[in-house]
Amino acid sequence: MAMIAYKCPDIVVVVLDINEGRIAAWNSDKLPIYEPGLDEVVKACRGRNLFFSTDVKKHVAEADIVFVSVNTPTKTRGVGAGKAADLTYWEGAARMIASVSTSSKIIVEKSTVPVKTAEAIEKVLRRNCADPGVDFQILSNPEFLAEGTAIADLTNPDRVLIGGKDNPAGHAAIEQLAAVYAHWVPQERILRTNLWSAELSKLTANAMLAQRISSMNSISALCEATGADVQEVGRSIGTDSRIGSKFLNASVGFGGSCFQKDILNLVYICETVGLKEVAEYWHSVITMNDYQKHRFVERVISSMFNTISKKRIAIYGFAFKKDTGDTRETPAIDVCRGLMADGAHCVIYDPQVGADQVHQDLATPKFEWDHPARAGSAVIGRDEISIVSDPYEAAHGAHGICLLTEWDMFATLDYQKIFENMVKPAFIFDGRNTLNHAALREIGFIVYALGKPL
Ligand code: UGA
Repeated sequence: MAMIAYKCPDIVVVVLDINEGRIAAWNSDKLPIYEPGLDEVVKACRGRNLFFSTDVKKHVAEADIVFVSVNTPTKTRGVGAGKAADLTYWEGAARMIASVSTSSKIIVEKSTVPVKTAEAIEKVLRRNCADPGVDFQILSNPEFLAEGTAIADLTNPDRVLIGGKDNPAGHAAIEQLAAVYAHWVPQERILRTNLWSAELSKLTANAMLAQRISSMNSISALCEATGADVQEVGRSIGTDSRIGSKFLNASVGFGGSCFQKDILNLVYICETVGLKEVAEYWHSVITMNDYQKHRFVERVISSMFNTISKKRIAIYGFAFKKDTGDTRETPAIDVCRGLMADGAHCVIYDPQVGADQVHQDLATPKFEWDHPARAGSAVIGRDEISIVSDPYEAAHGAHGICLLTEWDMFATLDYQKIFENMVKPAFIFDGRNTLNHAALREIGFIVYALGKPL
């Protein structure tokens, strides 16, 4: 929304939330999320044509277009628990929009939703609006930005996708929204589809992206068993223009708020329409991701002489990827739990994740979706881990370092100094393949890198 305000000075954008603390933060000097470049965009237009408010009803009533960007988490109870998207917030938003509307509006699905959500939402909107003259056109306009690169992704999107009804009113609504993006996005990158195609495209894009990572992660295990190098394999296959070079990095596992949630959602939709084999196919992407995290923990334990009990292990990075403070579904949660289940003491350092967040993540019982509970699902208390604000302090007296997030700063630390202050033999487990392994071995570290010859 900040980018729309930034690129469209003729449009007034009001961002609404019922949470007063959040809105106050958006109106302050310290924005509530860390995203490179966002500060500048918000500060350039806040108070000009970008406003943050808790007066939801007033501003929704006045709006021509309402973007609904509420949470759609995975249901944890009831029918579809563990897979289906929970649309409680969406339905609540639709009821509120209907009750305050006295003029026709375009309602835009920005949140990722199950296919055919628009149909359900339309019913809620139409049946809860007292004024029969008010018309609602529902559009699906899924977001494809990635965290950490949000501003660049929004400035220069590969595509903007707008799905709407295939009738004159639907087409007119699509064009109205397309005109907003056309302020800065070339027309050929604004794709128009039917509603269900747009909704399904979002789920499919995330499922395919996650599948690439799980595919490479599966190959990383094979590389370790055969002496091949997963980065060399990735580079070699990436030169095939049909495959492409992006998103082929083996890792300790993918995280983030979207991939797992969206795949589970896709799996659930397939199951509900009776497509068992299709559901199983996509579900295996998550199975492989869990396996990769589990495999990493096992590698740490087996390398350190089959016991990490009472050993101090430094954790470098807790966020689910670099350049974000977001920890949702971060592989670090499962890895730390797995290490601590075996008795290790984890000392965690992340440049953007605070101690309260780490404690909260490790203290929240893990919901075990639909696969058997693993050893790593224990709840971790406050006194069982340490969170420090300096990477050298984290490694001081440690037996091993696990690098779990690919922050640039980790590649430039003084590993000679770190080595000198560690218990010997000193281990490094690079879960992102971002360090100079030859240089580390030269210093004296025992290095384990994903999908690489030992
Ligand atoms: C993802 C998609 O990339 C976006 O297009 C989409 O809009 C977004 O979800 C969403 O649905 O909101 P995001 O989760 O922010 O974006 O971050 P990604 O860059 O996709 O990374 C996800 C995870 O995959 C991270 O843990 C990352 O470290 C991991 N990853 C990524 C790998 O392990 N290997 C890779 O080669 C790339």
